[in-house]
Amino acid sequence: MICVSKKKSYPKSENLKIFGQGKLNGIVEISGAKNSALVLLAASLLTNEKIILKNVPRLTDIEKMGNILKNLGVNLVERNNKLQIDSKNISIKELPYELVNGLRASFFCIGPLLSKFGEAKVPLPGGCNIGSRPIDEHINGLKALGAEIIIEEGIVKAKIKGKKNKLHGTHIKLKCPSVGATETLVMAATLAQGRTTIENAAREPEIQDLCQMLNKMGAKIYDSGKEKIIIDGVNKLSGCTHKVIPDRIEAGTFLIAAAATSSSITIAPVIPHHLEAVTNKLQESGSKITIKGNSITINPRELKSVDISTAPFPGFPTDLQAPFTALMTIANGKSKITETIFENRMNHIHLLNKMGARIKLRKNTAHIKGVKTIYGMDLVGSDLRSSAALIIAGIIAKGSSKIYGLEHLDRGYENFESKLKILGIKITREFNKNTFTQSEFKGGKESEDTEKYKVA
Ligand code: UD1
Repeated sequence: MICVSKKKSYPKSENLKIFGQGKLNGIVEISGAKNSALVLLAASLLTNEKIILKNVPRLTDIEKMGNILKNLGVNLVERNNKLQIDSKNISIKELPYELVNGLRASFFCIGPLLSKFGEAKVPLPGGCNIGSRPIDEHINGLKALGAEIIIEEGIVKAKIKGKKNKLHGTHIKLKCPSVGATETLVMAATLAQGRTTIENAAREPEIQDLCQMLNKMGAKIYDSGKEKIIIDGVNKLSGCTHKVIPDRIEAGTFLIAAAATSSSITIAPVIPHHLEAVTNKLQESGSKITIKGNSITINPRELKSVDISTAPFPGFPTDLQAPFTALMTIANGKSKITETIFENRMNHIHLLNKMGARIKLRKNTAHIKGVKTIYGMDLVGSDLRSSAALIIAGIIAKGSSKIYGLEHLDRGYENFESKLKILGIKITREFNKNTFTQSEFKGGKESEDTEKYKVA
């Protein structure tokens, strides 16, 4: 039986077959950060000059964002992991629904389009289904910068008030340190008239990467990475070459996979302090971590249970909550994993339980009692990070597993299975001739707790 975390769907034609109880060994190369590359692509709309982006991961999310830009009239040339982006001929101020569907980062285009044309129409964003994911902070901030905004039939229509056709600097205090809202408002403020301050800004490394690239383009942004970002508006931005930072979430996923299989690996390149919350927890749970320049080596020992609670950067990243939960299923003792950022990000719990884990979900806290063994199964991942968690579980498990729902995984992990193969895991992508109907994918009865948290 194939178990899914949602009662609808699953017409999927690919799966990863994993032979369990694998060990990892060697060095793994970490790709460029998806969440940085996405926002940097949007930021390239702010100039009429060429932007060269290096270290861009090849992922379906990036391809989608590229198509959105091309649809606006951007000339985009890709070679290996390098993108050349030329936005001088864009004339369209509107994003078509068909292209933005499912890509939350598409909403980032609103700030640059608004600054450049004085108006923009962008459909409400999609993305991983891990919670309600409102955009009120983006909207309120853009309004404070002088935009008039209405939302009609799922389209956010924004226009700059007044004759000057320019946003104006202002003081914005975010209710919560939203990553996306901070990025939208930073981009919009770079070409505004006067000074903007964003208080309670998010401090994630991807925001610092964005600010660094914008400053190379001639923006005047101070204190990115702090709670209060200051932006002095400039009249024009120019082109630049920029290298995307390494993906801290991909890096953390490999470290967790190594800890889960008692394997020693080295990951590089990384920026070790971006991963501090994760390496601290891995150390606490019994692994030895060695940092040398831009690499991290993990040597796991006895796996002890530890508690985590997700938090905005520099706290433990919500994007690694699901993989860490998979790790804790086989740890010695009891652990508590609390999700505080998204209200619906526990999609993996009942699937891990089907594999033999002992997890009780109460509200957004998973209470885990470590078991000796979990067992391979056929499973369907339902969002990006829970798919990664299921793959880790498949690697730990006794027996083989097939993981479906790879369209989520392919959004965010570049060459995941090839990298695992290089490290010694027996994993194959299988292409199935048949697609499957809903009835074939019904999972077993979910626990009462899981039922309450409608899964993605
Ligand atoms: C980004 C990342 C995602 C990561 C998340 C948190 C991208 C493309 N995605 O998502 O991988 O998991 O940061 O680190 O970079 N909120 C509001 N109002 C808003 C915006 C957000 O209430 O206007 C709330 C959200 O519902 C959520 C919390 O703030 O509970 C954090 O969301 P946010 O930081 O905005 O995440 P994203 O930018 O969507």
